[in-house]
Amino acid sequence: MTTTTKAPSVVDVAASEDVPERGRLVVEITTTRPVTVGIFRFAGRLYAWENVCAHQGGPACQGRIVSRVRERLDPEQRSLGLTFDDGTMHVVCPWHGYEYDVTTGRHPGVPGASLRPFPVDEEEGRIRVTV
Ligand code: FES
Repeated sequence: MTTTTKAPSVVDVAASEDVPERGRLVVEITTTRPVTVGIFRFAGRLYAWENVCAHQGGPACQGRIVSRVRERLDPEQRSLGLTFDDGTMHVVCPWHGYEYDVTTGRHPGVPGASLRPFPVDEEEGRIRVTV
């Protein structure tokens, strides 16, 4: 049996300004097979994830972008209320609410639930994804 491995393709997908800070762009890329990729920019860095939720395959990258919600506790572990952590950026799957950290692709509360990553970079004002 022979297995053929196709070399990865670097695909120019957008201009840098199409993904502003705390923004997102979802693109369809077709090489050997079509794949939909969400590209996010947070703290100046780009991240790219397949637009397929680990829960039931929903379009996770197209959901709301929110800061992580944290609960503040007093020394006796009583709640002092909820607060947004602007140092963390999440995207929320629109189907059932799975939430992913855009810098890791991981759900913060469900071990093993994560988005499939793609290498992404930018050069001379263009964003490129390797698929
Ligand atoms: S498919 Fe994304 S939360 Fe269910």
